[in-house]
Amino acid sequence: MNAEDNALLTRVEGDAPMGRLLRENFWVPAVLAQSLEAGGAPHRVHLVGRHYVVFRGHSGRTGCFDEGCPHRGASLALGRNEDDALRCIYHGWKFDVDGRCVAIPTQVGDEAGACSRVKINRHPTHEAAGIVWVWLGGGEPLPFPDYEFAGLPAGHFVPARQKLAYNWLQGVEGTMDSAHVTVLHEEWLGTLAQGRSGVTAAGQKKAPRYDIDEQPYGFRYAAHREVDAVRTYTRVNVFILPWFGMICPGDAPDGDRTAIFAVPCDDTTNVHWMVRYNPDKPVTSYYFTRHSDPNDWPPLPPGGPDENWGQDRKLMKRGGITGFTNVTTEDFAVNLSQGPIVDRTKEKLNSGDLAIVRLRQQLLAGARAVQAVHGRWEKAGADCSAARPFADVLPREGDWRRIVDATQVDART
Ligand code: FES
Ligand SMILES: [Fe+2]
Repeated sequence: MNAEDNALLTRVEGDAPMGRLLRENFWVPAVLAQSLEAGGAPHRVHLVGRHYVVFRGHSGRTGCFDEGCPHRGASLALGRNEDDALRCIYHGWKFDVDGRCVAIPTQVGDEAGACSRVKINRHPTHEAAGIVWVWLGGGEPLPFPDYEFAGLPAGHFVPARQKLAYNWLQGVEGTMDSAHVTVLHEEWLGTLAQGRSGVTAAGQKKAPRYDIDEQPYGFRYAAHREVDAVRTYTRVNVFILPWFGMICPGDAPDGDRTAIFAVPCDDTTNVHWMVRYNPDKPVTSYYFTRHSDPNDWPPLPPGGPDENWGQDRKLMKRGGITGFTNVTTEDFAVNLSQGPIVDRTKEKLNSGDLAIVRLRQQLLAGARAVQAVHGRWEKAGADCSAARPFADVLPREGDWRRIVDATQVDART
């Protein structure tokens, strides 16, 4: 990869094409729905290179504006939350959840007329999977996509988020990098393996055979690992543009799945969103439902670069593989260790990186499309209702796509 493409892929600040692609074509997760108390404190959020304020009025409705007050730029995150409206604390200008200016107390005469001339950048909001999403692109928003993790009953999904100091693409790439699972997460995989031939096979065969299936919404890939001469343990993960990795259950075909999306705040920070979900039954992953703050989960590595990110070498002497104690903390540590924006001109890729190459190609195509033509990218808004991750032991002969699709149809009827 050359330096120009690396910049095109990673940079989102200012007028960068990737920032425009993300803001103008996709719904962006902003804040956990449970963090927005009705009538409570507004939240300042940093999304794709810009600052916004998100709040929930007393009626429960949510609103999102550019952070700076249209009057003279004070932060509306300092505002008072009054009757489904935010009032700027500097001079008291007030904006309702629909973005109408409803009070200018400093105006002498014709306050209504003054209000009608004030425009605030108000961004549509949508609640799904316990997250408030915002449409930053202006104009009529695209319909909210039919993600498998959205629209499930309570108990079938658990969202969490963690803020990290590296570029968003490192997060997305880590999510779609099936090759690392049996290496970086060897220990975690071992805890899942108990008596399950597929997962055991995955642990023994470190190099999966990839098969990529391009889709209008992105792609899905199968990572096949031999169980024996006639069977493979096949993990099908899904990439939905621009940042969603849909990760198959680790243990059983109807196990909990994980949607992971690394969303840029700016060029060198991202929020790692995770939704643990299960369409078939309530989520049972105990560590997602108890003992954790969903705004601070999974745990960050316990140290900085000078402490090797808090890696515990004593633990490794006792048999620990990586010196970290949570599977996602392992991911965070390696992604942090790549630096704020990894220099992709220096990489040496191999066959284990096929899915990563594909996702880069798709994102580059999107960034180039918005460079060439302002406006919507034709791949945004593609139907993803059939995009589902999957894992099971399959017959070696036979088309995994057909097998997986047939299983999914069965599961839904
Ligand atoms: S800056 Fe907000 S009312 Fe003046
Ligand atoms: Fe990982």
